[in-house]
Amino acid sequence: MDNDRSLTHRPRRLRQDRIRGLVSETSLEPSDLIAPVFVDATADERVPIDSMPGHERVPVSDAVSRVEEVLETGVEAVMLFGIPTSKDPDGTRAWADDGVVQEATRRITAETDAYVLTDACLCEYTDHGHCGPLEEELRGDAHSHGHDPDLDATLTVDNDATLEALEKIAVSHAEAGADMIAPSGMMDGMVGAIRGALDREGFEHVPIMSYAAKYESAFYGPFRDAADGAPAFGNRRHYQMDPANAREAIREVELDVDQGADVLMVKPALPYLDIVSSLRREFDHPIAAYNVSGEYAMLHAASEKGWLDLEAVAHESLLSIKRAGADLILTYFAERIARKM
Ligand code: PBG
Repeated sequence: MDNDRSLTHRPRRLRQDRIRGLVSETSLEPSDLIAPVFVDATADERVPIDSMPGHERVPVSDAVSRVEEVLETGVEAVMLFGIPTSKDPDGTRAWADDGVVQEATRRITAETDAYVLTDACLCEYTDHGHCGPLEEELRGDAHSHGHDPDLDATLTVDNDATLEALEKIAVSHAEAGADMIAPSGMMDGMVGAIRGALDREGFEHVPIMSYAAKYESAFYGPFRDAADGAPAFGNRRHYQMDPANAREAIREVELDVDQGADVLMVKPALPYLDIVSSLRREFDHPIAAYNVSGEYAMLHAASEKGWLDLEAVAHESLLSIKRAGADLILTYFAERIARKM
């Protein structure tokens, strides 16, 4: 047959319906997903979170039924966040034996098969909303000027004091039955401190998922409403990573690997897919990505306006996060997407 267009390469041959599945490079399964769950010790009924449609803070008494709802969709793992009964400068409720996450974890692990990860951080527990106790920031001119009333300029999180708190938090979560501990505070040395504490207390089998490359991101806004963890002053740029930096992520993550991190997380996910993909190339560990509250809220807002098809953009987002190299994804879309699979 004469054909004046003889194209050797026709990629469209493999895009026909019956072959697409066979050549597809990436798949998304409910078992790849972790659903965040907010447990609120101050609530006696479920409270919808305005900026995260479809999500609620649930009272401790409802934690089990909330997790059962997640399990019904096929998602097998949850990440617990707690809103405590009270806050103080040191965040002491974060490691209380009868704390909100400890109590919820005890109930969920006793009554369900869910794999329970717990967020280990202080920002929901300190009255100032920072991720650890504060100290005066030491500067070159610290001794020459008087006290600066602008707190933002003079206070920062005390790294090493926070490590001690994180050790207590991690052990209290493990004692309550947590399957994996996920420190999210971006303190230097946090993985090593927690690993040491868990091992000393007989929890050497409990893995650590480090929020290893966590950026100082404006996409956390809705979460801070949900978990009541916004900093009362300033921001988190002295401990979370600068969005401008990619090479630094490799150095930062190497430290966590050296300290024994089992799973490495990048957060947020969509604006940081280059980081996901470079960590995938550099490390053999499982890579997690956190598709954060702002990523969820913006798709919802656009779909409410009729501008985007929510199901489609959510699925495409999660697939893209996997394609970039993530093995597991924390996402507020977990239940919705798993239900469709
Ligand atoms: C606590 C923590 C935050 C998130 C998860 N753990 C907030 C923050 O760092 O400000 C954000 C999650 C989200 O936006 O979905 N440190």
